[in-house]
Amino acid sequence: MGSKLWSGRFTKSTHRWVEEFNASIAFDQVLAEVDIQGSLAHVAMLGKCGILAPEEVSQIRRGLERILARVQAGTCTFSVEQEDIHMNIEKMLTDEIGPVGGKLHTGRSRNDQVALDMHLYIRMQTVEMVRLLYELNQVLLMQAERQIDTILPGYTHLQRAQPVRLSHHLLAYVSMFERDMERLMDSYKRVNLCPLGAGAIAGTTFPIDREWVAAQLGFADIYDNSMDAVSDRDYLLEFLSMASIIMVHLSRLAEELILWCSDEFNFVELDDAFCTGSSMMPQKKNPDIPELIRGKTGRVFGHLVGLLTTLKALPLTYNKDLQEDKEGVFDTIATLTGCLKLMAPMLETMKVNQKQMRQSAEQGFANATDLADYLVDKGLPFRQAHEVVGRLVLHCIQERKGLLDCTLAEYQSFSGLIEEDIYDRLSCEQVVEARQSAGGTAKAQVLSSLSKKKDKAAKIRYWLDDICQLYATKTP
Ligand code: ARG
Repeated sequence: MGSKLWSGRFTKSTHRWVEEFNASIAFDQVLAEVDIQGSLAHVAMLGKCGILAPEEVSQIRRGLERILARVQAGTCTFSVEQEDIHMNIEKMLTDEIGPVGGKLHTGRSRNDQVALDMHLYIRMQTVEMVRLLYELNQVLLMQAERQIDTILPGYTHLQRAQPVRLSHHLLAYVSMFERDMERLMDSYKRVNLCPLGAGAIAGTTFPIDREWVAAQLGFADIYDNSMDAVSDRDYLLEFLSMASIIMVHLSRLAEELILWCSDEFNFVELDDAFCTGSSMMPQKKNPDIPELIRGKTGRVFGHLVGLLTTLKALPLTYNKDLQEDKEGVFDTIATLTGCLKLMAPMLETMKVNQKQMRQSAEQGFANATDLADYLVDKGLPFRQAHEVVGRLVLHCIQERKGLLDCTLAEYQSFSGLIEEDIYDRLSCEQVVEARQSAGGTAKAQVLSSLSKKKDKAAKIRYWLDDICQLYATKTP
């Protein structure tokens, strides 16, 4: 029966199907390092508060450090019999240093321990996600700078609407990813709270020092309610929500790349390194990577809905249901990491077909609004101008030509207000340059937005550097 850490109260061993079903070691072993990090801080606190003798503390510390080295070397074997990462490590510790290892868990429960591990882990991953988004934005900014004079059609309803600078288009994504980073950075303060010391639910009878252990682990504060500390999973919901929004953004970008590299658009060519061939059709070069990014969005949304459902109506405090918080979160981290890591070099190496973009921008009456605006400048109310241009466009469609192909006489048969200067006004360049309003697509606007975004990126860089330094000094 015997080797379970909690076997004292039991007269029978667990059913052979229970062990496997109940265990989380298959997936929570990724927490091994943070679990040991938490235990090292906990045992240091037990020593500092006089709960354990100095000799006991150093024995436990040395034992944990040896196990940590084995974890880092990848030479640990975990057992399903020990159920989860916490008990696996505690068992390894007692095997390593004898019964004194059993003193580590004084004043602690697995309930506050697992909450601590997840906080440490998500805190680290929050920073990592900001770093990956920062890298992606660096690539987008580089391309935006490079493509400042490239003009392509901007779309609404996936119909050509108005010509825009490619930089402008790319900077729209930079804005989305900036918001994603800001959300992560804001959530950091809610992740950066220490649940340790909440015990199983109500606190502990030992004279522990929660603030001290929290500071050792670099936390800004402690949970102020022990019941909330062991049952709160909001920070995971928040992480999954943010991840879902990031995936929305990535999937939109991926979709555009897929469209743009089709023969129908022919706006970009993805580097061979990010495409694959077909097993049957020799001519094919498929955009698998953006397709997969688009496709993987589904599982991340699924994990969010999964955890929301697990938490719904769950009574306080810890319930074993909460063990179900992990796989979805870990898979989300792996998925997001993969998508962000690939999106950046794919955009960096993509070839832009400037000629084709330009040609496309010149077709499809993308300058029609400008003709209407021209008539408004001449005093015609916008509604009437809209009507006149609508009729002129219809005429051009029937004649199979663009607005710029009309003769002045043709123009004037629709409105006497149109003069020779119309040809300049409707050229692609002019149409783009005329949009000087704040946040518009004129070159000066785009350049100013580019430089603001670089400043913002620099601020985020400081935040990242600061946090990394904090870890370097605080990690026990
Ligand atoms: N493996 C568990 C989890 O992930 C650890 C906490 C177990 N606590 C308990 N009282 N059984 O949630």
